[in-house]
Amino acid sequence: MQTDNLKFSSQGESSLSLDAQALTSGFSKLSKEERYARLHQLGLLTTEDIEYLQLGGLQSTGLAEHFIENVIGYFQLPLGVAMNFNIDGRNIVIPMAVEETSIIAAASKTAKWVREQGRITTQTLGNLIIGQIQIAHTQNPQDVVMQIEKNKASLISRANEIAAGIVRRGGGVRDITCRILPRTDSSDHMVVLHVLCDPCDAMGANIINQVCEALKKPIETMTGESVRMCILSNLVDTRLTQAQVEIFDIDPELGYGIEEASKFAELDPYRAATNNKGVLNGIDPIVIATGNDWRAVEAGIHAYAARGGSYSSITKWRMRGPILVGTFEAPIIVGTVGGVTKLHPTAQLCLRMLNVTSAEELSRIMAAVGLVQNLGALKALSTVGVVQGHMKLHSANLALMAGAETDEIETVQKELELILRKTRRVSLSHAVEALEKLRRQKESKLGPICTQ
Ligand code: MEV
Repeated sequence: MQTDNLKFSSQGESSLSLDAQALTSGFSKLSKEERYARLHQLGLLTTEDIEYLQLGGLQSTGLAEHFIENVIGYFQLPLGVAMNFNIDGRNIVIPMAVEETSIIAAASKTAKWVREQGRITTQTLGNLIIGQIQIAHTQNPQDVVMQIEKNKASLISRANEIAAGIVRRGGGVRDITCRILPRTDSSDHMVVLHVLCDPCDAMGANIINQVCEALKKPIETMTGESVRMCILSNLVDTRLTQAQVEIFDIDPELGYGIEEASKFAELDPYRAATNNKGVLNGIDPIVIATGNDWRAVEAGIHAYAARGGSYSSITKWRMRGPILVGTFEAPIIVGTVGGVTKLHPTAQLCLRMLNVTSAEELSRIMAAVGLVQNLGALKALSTVGVVQGHMKLHSANLALMAGAETDEIETVQKELELILRKTRRVSLSHAVEALEKLRRQKESKLGPICTQ
């Protein structure tokens, strides 16, 4: 490990307010050992963290046995860091667990642009998650609602006995509301109760499900109706995360191109799906790296994207004079305590690296990275396209898939880049041909390889 001008210290000794210069100076050009050294110097990794990462993370499946059933091993994703982010005035190194080529490079590159020419700000709206209790059939929906309203205080108080742990931390159930849904298959109505709970820094799934199930009997007794099911909702429009990116003095043509790309996604669900996938390219890898439930985050974001009755974009870009302004708004329900976030050492390492103090702050970072990722994609799509940016690592992947050995990859990659420049496309068969060509050349230099 190169330590010449990078002094090692254990986490906490060095300042966590990261020096912008150190953050931006050629991180991607460093070797892996130098990256460890840089992150250590910045106080983001301890020597123990580095040893743990060098060993390849979790070795024993013991922990996995506590999480799931029928364990046979771990599935390992690459873990990288996106650099150059300054979110709400704080420099942050972003851990991302992801397999897709270019995501981290694009995030870092776009964050650098924003850092130099703009800013990122974030906020949250509301802090309550939703648990649903369903009364499937009733002839008297208004009476049911009246009973719930009349007994609301006692229901909330019962709920908060169940959620005592969260109440002790300053959270708990705050309100219970009712929705009447006319049934389309009969003259009955469905009544759906929403139990609104502040889960503090937990994601809250377990606690809200427990609370709702505990309210089942009292609700049946007070309404005389039967409760069918109780479960959280992932469409958490009561706890939204917003991010805003501004780019000052943007080249008007580029700004216009990004605005047009945005309007395409706002209007057309087919484009919106891809646009939002690009946003999630920034969000999911942090959700995974911090041990959070990415299916819940995905479900919430997509449902929110369809809240107007038609699936649309969760981001919006507009020119405001010489400033390009981008916004993101959606629920991002994650936790910093409980479950995998607490138990998985890699998740803990990533949370320490982010140095977040709350689940709300973690969701704001995710929103910011998602929006920056979206900006990077729209910038590429409205100028050179995405193929060029993908190609360097994609060609390495193709070389590997074609069966190239480590010392052959670079040459195959170079050949693929030449083909790409000429034809604007490369495929696995090009890689196979390039590898065969290389091996023929090697053989003609060395003579045939003797295997006997
Ligand atoms: C690819 O993973 C993501 C993009 O398709 C996103 C987009 O089209 O906005 C490039």
